[in-house]
Amino acid sequence: MSADSAIIVTEGLGKTFGSIEALSGIDLAVEPGTIVAPLGPNGAGKTTVVRILTTLLKPTTGKAWVAGFDVVTQAAQLRGVIGLAGQYAAVDEILTGMENLEMVGRLYGLRAGLARRRADEILELFDLTDAAHRMVKTYSGGMRRRLDLGGSLVGRPRVLFLDEPTTGLDLRARLGLWDFIDKLVDEGTTLLLTTQYLEEADHLADAIEVIDRGEIIASGTSQELKQLIGGDVLDFQVAVRSEVGAAAEAVKNIGTEAPTIDEESGRVRLPVANPVGVITEAVRSLDRQQIKLRDLAITRPTLDDVFLTLTGKEIEREDDTAQLGTSLTEGRRT
Ligand SMILES: Nc1ncnc2c1ncn2[C@@H]1O[C@H](COP(=O)(O)OP(=O)(O)OP(=O)(O)O)[C@@H](O)[C@H]1O
Ligand SMILES: [Mg+2]
Repeated sequence: MSADSAIIVTEGLGKTFGSIEALSGIDLAVEPGTIVAPLGPNGAGKTTVVRILTTLLKPTTGKAWVAGFDVVTQAAQLRGVIGLAGQYAAVDEILTGMENLEMVGRLYGLRAGLARRRADEILELFDLTDAAHRMVKTYSGGMRRRLDLGGSLVGRPRVLFLDEPTTGLDLRARLGLWDFIDKLVDEGTTLLLTTQYLEEADHLADAIEVIDRGEIIASGTSQELKQLIGGDVLDFQVAVRSEVGAAAEAVKNIGTEAPTIDEESGRVRLPVANPVGVITEAVRSLDRQQIKLRDLAITRPTLDDVFLTLTGKEIEREDDTAQLGTSLTEGRRT
């Protein structure tokens, strides 16, 4: 990836709050039309990155550009090409859903008619049409989240920042948003999406930046990150335990490393590079030696395994209900 064509670039981005070092030297280069997912536990620095890139916070050290605009010296131009939905819904309680979106449209400089049309489309898209003319203070937490997400799209941004967009959404809304994100990115939007959900990063992101304590500790596609901790493994159990050695011998050429044998259980584990065709090949070799199997599978590491290996910590997630409670109070403040 070259920084020349990248639409989001950061160089040695650092941020301290008093004695707290929230970010210590973040380097990013995100290609247009892709999804990048900073992934990390609570307090890793994800929101701080988003706030700097959306001009809400100034970096202490380093530089950053979005769509070619410097986050510090060209903040106003930069704001014109981005959309943001924060970790906590920022919607006006005493306006209706429709009025909230129209207001955002006017802030983007849209004519009244166009702002209204966009608001209509977005309310429809996020399943809020029936509630369009109700004051937001009557909305549920999930509805506020959806309205806030909708607001980030009114200006048809080239670069969209979503900070934990699915936290507090139920499964149906979450899957709906995933579909919608796929469509947006197909149309050329670049998306930076922070998440604590490994399966979300796995499903959506072209590139994942694993971030822990203000530092990027690994980057790559989910496939690359999984390879980092060993990749796919062929795992099988022989029916007759005394044949385990012969079985390992029969498959050893398929693997990238020597097989490991568990004599006790009759299990063989073999790291493999490319899982396609491995099962057939293994079964054929074992059959040729007339070795009978109890089971056989390819096991693949999950991103959870990756995170655990890299940081020694499991991803901690805030309980969704607790998160909703927070978003309500924060929403009122903003
Ligand atoms: N305004 C602030 N004043 C002081 N410390 C802050 C401030 N904002 C963030 N921090 C600290 O900076 C660090 C990174 O916080 P940040 O909110 O970026 O993490 P995060 O990855 O978004 O976490 P979460 O998953 O909980 O949202 C934390 O230690 C946090 O306490
Ligand atoms: Mg955050």
